[in-house]
Amino acid sequence: MSPTHRPVSVPSFCAAKESGQKLAMVTAYDTLWASLMDAAGIDSILVGDSLGMVVQGNSTTLPVTLDEMIYHAKMVVRGTKRALVVVDLPFMTYQVSPQQALENAGRIIKETGASAVKLEGGIHQQETIQKLADAEIPVMAHVGMKPQSVHQLGGMGKIQRDETRILADAKAAEEAGAFSIVLELIPSSVAKTVTESVKIPTIGIGAGPDCDGQVLVGPDMLGLTEGFHPKFLKHYAELGKMAREATEKYVAEVKSGTYPSAEHSHE
Ligand code: KIV
Repeated sequence: MSPTHRPVSVPSFCAAKESGQKLAMVTAYDTLWASLMDAAGIDSILVGDSLGMVVQGNSTTLPVTLDEMIYHAKMVVRGTKRALVVVDLPFMTYQVSPQQALENAGRIIKETGASAVKLEGGIHQQETIQKLADAEIPVMAHVGMKPQSVHQLGGMGKIQRDETRILADAKAAEEAGAFSIVLELIPSSVAKTVTESVKIPTIGIGAGPDCDGQVLVGPDMLGLTEGFHPKFLKHYAELGKMAREATEKYVAEVKSGTYPSAEHSHE
């Protein structure tokens, strides 16, 4: 199915808010995981710049490049038939000017087949969001705790409590033409106020139950990133433990000569 004819489109994503249906979103970075999540009925897959940490092993999202995002997004689009694919604009690919953002977002849409881009910011990115929306590039905004502001914030994972600022950012993004907003690490009460104040869907991560949808980093949700236990995270499986135990068993069987047995050998 071509990326333009997916069951979950930008308009149907937005319509979910009107009909009161919650939206489930998750990050994925390659064909294998994207296809599993797509088949499981996920509404949207975010090719997040969190790949800088969970795939590349960096301590922040800042080193991720546009070419790397495009590389991963192509794989995710190939693995999905149903979900809306949204791709993060990485650090310094949109902050320079609205024109820079347009050229880079254009590359993402054109080269990957994804349907939308995400960028961090509200008030300060209003002109940029408008520029992309005017070029018919759907934009998801990201307010609250913005991982690309790690140095300004003095670290990641800090709950943002300035309701006036968060609400103003969300409204600015909506006015500029964003089709949806991620709310990261904010009190549930603030997320509720924002969700009730905007017409576009809010997608929470560490923002409580009153958002229009939720997003989690796929490897976190599946228990693959062992040792990372923020309060908001729920493990829906312990795949890290399973993978380690399976590999230990394989190592033991190879070393003891029990694998391959006759059953796994050719005559
Ligand atoms: O990069 C990412 O994975 C994100 C989510 C945490 C929303 O921005």
